[in-house]
Amino acid sequence: MASKNRRLANNPQTLHQQLLKLWKRGQSELCEVRNSEIHGRGVYAAQAIAGGEKIIEYVGELIDKKKSERRGVAQQAKSEQTGDAAVYIFTLNKTYDIDGDVPWNTARLINHSCEPNCEAWIQGRRIFIHALRDISPGEELTFDYAFDVEHYQDHPCLCGRPNCVGYIVAREQWDELKRRLSEITTL
Ligand SMILES: C[S@@+](CC[C@H](N)C(=O)[O-])C[C@H]1O[C@@H](n2cnc3c(N)ncnc32)[C@H](O)[C@@H]1O
Ligand SMILES: [Zn+2]
Repeated sequence: MASKNRRLANNPQTLHQQLLKLWKRGQSELCEVRNSEIHGRGVYAAQAIAGGEKIIEYVGELIDKKKSERRGVAQQAKSEQTGDAAVYIFTLNKTYDIDGDVPWNTARLINHSCEPNCEAWIQGRRIFIHALRDISPGEELTFDYAFDVEHYQDHPCLCGRPNCVGYIVAREQWDELKRRLSEITTL
C-alpha cells in the first residue's frame, strides 16, 4: 500500500489530477468570492439558490481534537499579531474537526451573520453548506459561526442585520449575551 501511494505521488500526471480533484471539491458554480461589506472577502450567490439546496462543501484537513486545540491556539495567536482573520476550524464530531485553512476551501470565506441565509450540515465526515431559504443572485452567503458566549468580546459582529446582537455568538446563547451586556450597561 505504501509503495502504491509513493508511485501515485511520484507520477506527476496523477498528482496533478489529484490536486485538481481536491481543488474542484472546494468550488461550486452556485457561488463566487467577492469583497464583502461585512468583513474582508466573502462568498456570494452567483445564481438563484433554492432553500435547502446544497451549495458548497467546507473542505479541509481532518484532524483530531488534540491537533485541533493546538492549531486553534496558533491561529488565534497569529490573528492577534497580524489582524488577519482566524478561526477556520470546524467541529465535526466528538473525535474530529476539520481545519479548513487551505486555499482551495472557498467556503472558509463565508462570513457570519446574526440572520444567516445558510447553515452547515454534517454528513459523516464531510461538511456541506446548505441554503436556509431561497437566495437571490448577488446576495452574500452567511452562516452562524455559533461561537461560545464566553469569548464574546473577542468577536464583535459587523453583519449589519437589523437584529444583530453586536457579537458573533451562537443564537442559543443570545439570552446569556444580552444578560451580560445589560450588566455592563447598568454598572
Ligand atoms: C473564516 S474568516 C471569514 C472570511 C473573512 N471575511 C476573510 O476575508 O478572510 C472568519 C473571520 O472573518 C471575520 N468575520 C466573519 N464574519 C464576521 C462578522 N459578521 N463581523 C465581523 N467580522 C466577521 C472575523 O474576523 C472572523 O474571524
Ligand atoms: Zn451580527
